[in-house]
Order: sequence, then structure tokens, then C-alpha cells
Amino acid sequence: MSRDRAEQLKPTLKAVAARMLPPVTPIGFPAATDIDFSLIAPLSPGTLNNIGDPTVPGLEHRNVKDLEREVVGILAEWFQAPRQDRWGCVTTGGTEGNLYGLYLARTALPNGVVYFAETAHYSVAKAAHLLGLPAVRVPTRNGGELDYQELAERVNTHRHRPAIVVATVGTTMTEAVDNVAAIKVSLDRVGIPDDRRYVHVDAALTGIPLVLLHGTHPSVNLSEVGHVDSLTISGHKFLATPEPCGVLITRRRHRDRVARNVSYIGGVDATIAGSRSGHTVLQLWWALRSLDRPDHQRRAERARAVAAHTVRRLTEAGWAAWRHKHAFTVVMKAPSPAMIQRWALATHGEWSHIVCVPGVTTEVIDRFVDELVAEQRNEYQPAAPARAARRRWWQRQRVEHVGWPAAPHTGLPPVG
Ligand SMILES: Cc1ncc(COP(=O)(O)O)c(C=O)c1O
Repeated sequence: MSRDRAEQLKPTLKAVAARMLPPVTPIGFPAATDIDFSLIAPLSPGTLNNIGDPTVPGLEHRNVKDLEREVVGILAEWFQAPRQDRWGCVTTGGTEGNLYGLYLARTALPNGVVYFAETAHYSVAKAAHLLGLPAVRVPTRNGGELDYQELAERVNTHRHRPAIVVATVGTTMTEAVDNVAAIKVSLDRVGIPDDRRYVHVDAALTGIPLVLLHGTHPSVNLSEVGHVDSLTISGHKFLATPEPCGVLITRRRHRDRVARNVSYIGGVDATIAGSRSGHTVLQLWWALRSLDRPDHQRRAERARAVAAHTVRRLTEAGWAAWRHKHAFTVVMKAPSPAMIQRWALATHGEWSHIVCVPGVTTEVIDRFVDELVAEQRNEYQPAAPARAARRRWWQRQRVEHVGWPAAPHTGLPPVG
């Protein structure tokens, strides 16, 4: 590339770099930002393609399937998947994880009906639609959790067909957790035998913090005694990967039903995507190897403490707010459109939420609540000193190199 062309493109790169550092922390989206990925950043221009099944090496040597197996292995241990009957892969995110879980379910039970809570992520209904599976939405109770009585009634209506149930571990808006033990009781009551049921767990948001802090919860238990067939988590939420990705873990026997040999890749096609990024695998591996389980446990504990602080501050300010006991998501009465926009608050009807993922500090929350209170009193002024400090910081850096990874992971000053 010529120097002139590089000069021409630089402003766009600078603009992209600035987007990675919004003027305030976007507290409405669950992307943790506290893990430092800068040591793997120099590898980002290289080719890494984990094409095909991670357990089969294949002909493309520029892969990190060994690291993918390690990532799956660490998480499979956390979720207690049986050593002799486990398999997993890295996906592009929660949506692909749900599509894959339902694909495995349909392959096992082609005539199945899918049941999921009305609060389940929209990707669940989309996956059922893509796979041509009939889908039944089930009403919820208790701040977004499946109503198990309603589930039993709906399954009973279709009791001559196999039941595929999607449990959500951390609904997008309130972080409600469906209980797989209670789902099992509902299916037992209707008389659905074990070989005519499949339970997929969408644990994109809360799977990891829940297993770290409540390892025995039946919805994050993949052991023989549990009732979970597949489980998916997100990488770019709690694990802070700069690029969107996820992990799916299932039983080896479910994977075997869909796997096909492909001579041209010298491997096995067992995943939804053929070519798969090795860079997201590397990021997941880094998140899980640069920190140990107790470190991640502390991150989860701190996130919950920040959420508790958020509820306390909002309530003291007279603002309606609550959270589930296990959650780092705080549900609050929606503020003004200006506040929603400025703080990127995901909002549904009258309610917004704040997700206190690692990287969201009590200082950020205090600034948010102070602004909320000032706005109520018509006293709000944008935080000029913070803006000026930011500008000075950028000037110091002169933003010459603006490549991946996302700037918030490289030790920039806290935003807020
Ligand atoms: C519970 C849940 N499932 C699935 C998804 C989809 O994840 P992705 O956007 O990575 O496809 C999300 C994303 O917010 C989610 O909260």
C-alpha cells in the first residue's frame, strides 16, 4: 500500500478507534472490559482458521484447534460435563449456540416441539424457525422465569410429540434463570419419557458467573445426573473477548449424529460454520488461561457487589430498581430518552436495565445516579472536566496505531 493511501485511510481508523471508547461507559450492554488482551494483539494480522471439528486436526495447518480443545475442556470441567461423553466447539456467539443446540435436538428428535419462555432471547424463536420446528412460547413468573405449571400444560397439549425445552440462564432484560430441575418435574408430570425430551440451556449471559458462584445449580450442571443436553455461553459478555464469540458444550453422542467426514478438509464437519475464526478461540483461551478460576470467581463476586450498590443508590435516590439475588443486572424504571441514549441503556417498555459486568465500577454507577438525580432537578450539565481529560489523553497518545484489540482492553483511562 502506498504512503498516500495509508494517509488517506488514517482518519477512518482514528474514527473507529474513537468509537471503541464512547464518552461514557455503555452500562446497558453486558460486555465486560476488565481483561487485558494486549499481549495477543500482535497476532491479529495472521491467518487462523479452525475449519471443521476441533477434535480432528484437518489439512489447514494454520489453526488453533489445540487451544479450542483447551477452552472447551476448561469450561466442560466447570460445567461438570462427563469426561467420556463430552464435546464442544467455539461459535460466533449466543445465536449460533442456540441454533446449534436446536439443530442437535432436531437431529435426535425430528418430530419435536420447542418450548421456551416468552422472555427467551429472540434468537431461540429464530433458530426454531430456521430449523422448521414448531415453537411454543410459555408465559413467565417471578421476574422473567419460566412458569413451570404453564409449561406442563403446553407440553400436555402436544404430549404425543417429543419435547425440546430451551432454558434460559440469564434472560436478556432481567437475568432471570430457568430451573432445569423444575423443567424435568414438568416433563415427568406430563409423562414425557427421557428418550423423547431434550433440554438446551441458553446460558449466554449468566452461565459462567452462575457456575462460578453456584456450581451445583441444576441449570449449569452437565453431569450424568443432570438433565442438560447442550449448553451455550457467550465469550464477549462475562469473558470480555473483544470479538463476539461463544462456546457450545454437549454430549459426544449428540455431536456424532450430525458429524460427517469431508475429504477435502481432511477432517469432519460437525459445526454450523465450516471455516471458523481462530482469533476468537485465541481470545477465549487468553481469557481463561491468563486468569484462573478463583480470579474469575472474584470478578463475578465484584460484579454482583456493584449491582447491589446500584440498587442501593437508585433506591436511595427514590428511583424504582430491583435485581434478582444472583444477578449483576439491575432493572430500573426507564429514565429520560436522553439518559437512555447517553448511557446506552437497553430499554423495553417502561423498564431499562444496567448490566454491572466486570469493568463497570461503583464510580461509574455513582456518576450515572448523580446525573439521573441532577436531571430530575434540571441541573444536569455534561461532565466537562472528564471530557477535557479524555481529550488530553488522546492527544498524548496521538492515536498512531489503532488496530485490534478494542481500545478499552488496553489500559486506557476509565471512562464514565
Ligand atoms: C440470553 C441470550 N441469549 C442469546 C444471545 C445472543 O447472543 P449473540 O448476540 O452473541 O448472538 C443473547 C445476547 O444478548 C442473550 O442475552
